[in-house]
Amino acid sequence: MSRKYRVGILGATGMVGQRFAQLLENHPQFEVTAVAASDRSQDRKYSDACSWRLGGEMPAAIRSMIVQPPVPPLDCDLVFSSLPGEIARVSEGSFAADGYPVISNSSAFRMDENVPLLIPEVNPEHLQLLELQQSLYPSGGFVVTNPNCSTIMIALALAPLHAAFGVESCVATTMQALSGAGYPGVASLDVIDNVLPYIGGEEEKIESETKKILGRFNDSRIEAAPMAVSAQCHRVNVSDGHMAAVRVKFARKVELPELREALSSFRSMPQELKLHSAPAFPIVIRDEQDRPQPKHDRDAGNGMTITVGRIMPDAVLDFRFVVLSHNVIRGAAGAAILNAEMLIALGHLSK
Ligand SMILES: NC(=O)c1ccc[n+]([C@@H]2O[C@H](COP(=O)([O-])OP(=O)(O)OC[C@H]3O[C@@H](n4cnc5c(N)ncnc54)[C@H](OP(=O)(O)O)[C@@H]3O)[C@@H](O)[C@H]2O)c1
Repeated sequence: MSRKYRVGILGATGMVGQRFAQLLENHPQFEVTAVAASDRSQDRKYSDACSWRLGGEMPAAIRSMIVQPPVPPLDCDLVFSSLPGEIARVSEGSFAADGYPVISNSSAFRMDENVPLLIPEVNPEHLQLLELQQSLYPSGGFVVTNPNCSTIMIALALAPLHAAFGVESCVATTMQALSGAGYPGVASLDVIDNVLPYIGGEEEKIESETKKILGRFNDSRIEAAPMAVSAQCHRVNVSDGHMAAVRVKFARKVELPELREALSSFRSMPQELKLHSAPAFPIVIRDEQDRPQPKHDRDAGNGMTITVGRIMPDAVLDFRFVVLSHNVIRGAAGAAILNAEMLIALGHLSK
């Protein structure tokens, strides 16, 4: 087998960075060769700088790596970024300018006109935007992003419905896990025995990103999907697993069996290409009246399958359902890794 792609992780000590490290251990196409984080961690061994918050052991191969600043050059072929949005713009931009492919999980570039906001099962044709980045980054670098952790499950569930019936409008009410706020995240006294009805910037991200993802690539630009999206976001006392109650109005009359069929039969290019991180089923339906639940359903498909339940006709819009996904896997690190696998499969990454 040919040499693996050498990857750097920016923000390697954080919640998403640790998931990157975990998911990349023993990955057939990638090996971690560089880790970067803030000046709090720099010049220290990863095992000293990083307080490991995941089950299982910290991957042995990166324990002794020295944490570096998130600026080029790093000893790698591409970078995965899980930097906070506010510093990602400069850091990721400088890596792209220096010729590195940047597979970003942060919000900094998601809505840029020439940046693909990619869910490989939904909008692989948006990768044509990479041609527009060639003039911006003549050294061959580029930026590809994955969606916000709640947007991704909502857009993935809507994708087959929009393709089959046309989504006219969608109302989503999220219940988002604590790990979505990073570490240490939300203060325990704020969230025990409580629900917080505000997550900064989240509602706007779901509303704008969903329309970009479901939009059409048309003559070198993305035409946002012509649908109304309304989101309300809540932080709840759950460790991992974001959930959303979704109501949808369609362009035509839809029967329940055809809606179920559109969701449950959904497969796409990552499944056909048998990409390493692609779940056999991107969407599964649970028929029990009390599912999905974060505790029981977040690990479906190794955290890469989203679970839909409570599918019913709705008295206000046309249908409603509840969708759940693992926010740090399908919603973050796993999504970025699947994006990189897709880029390899389509010939966008060279070693
Ligand atoms: N958690 C999720 O479910 C989730 C889902 C989707 C997207 N995201 C996005 O992913 C990114 C990371 O989230 P997270 O949950 O992993 O956050 P986190 O746990 O707070 O980790 C942040 C990481 O960024 C580093 N960092 C912070 N400030 C820095 C600076 N000024 N310069 C260089 N590095 C800096 C931290 O390094 P130190 O350890 O040295 O401070 C740490 O490695 C954010 O953009 C977030 O919006 C998160």
